[in-house]
Amino acid sequence: MSTLTIQPAGIVTEVVAGTNLLHAILAAGGKLATKCGEQAKCGACHLFVVEGRKGLSRIAAQEDAKLDTLVGIGSKSRLACQATVLGTEAVTVELLGALSG
Ligand code: FES
Repeated sequence: MSTLTIQPAGIVTEVVAGTNLLHAILAAGGKLATKCGEQAKCGACHLFVVEGRKGLSRIAAQEDAKLDTLVGIGSKSRLACQATVLGTEAVTVELLGALSG
């Protein structure tokens, strides 16, 4: 288990190791879009990992390629649908855009 904090909503939840980050956020009541069936193709699940990047699976080539096409990405960017919570450390994410409430 590891603690997942979802900003700016301030939701705090416990997540079982091996859980997909997008699924964990939606299960906790976070608002995050998915338009491509979690295939790393739409970018709608783009968020910032504020803390605990090592608590998530590494960025694979497909995610990296999609991130390169998005506006507003930074060193903290991830696609939630492509990240797995490892359970090794607490993770804080910041949801972006109009759906982030
Ligand atoms: S849901 Fe489309 S890129 Fe993650």
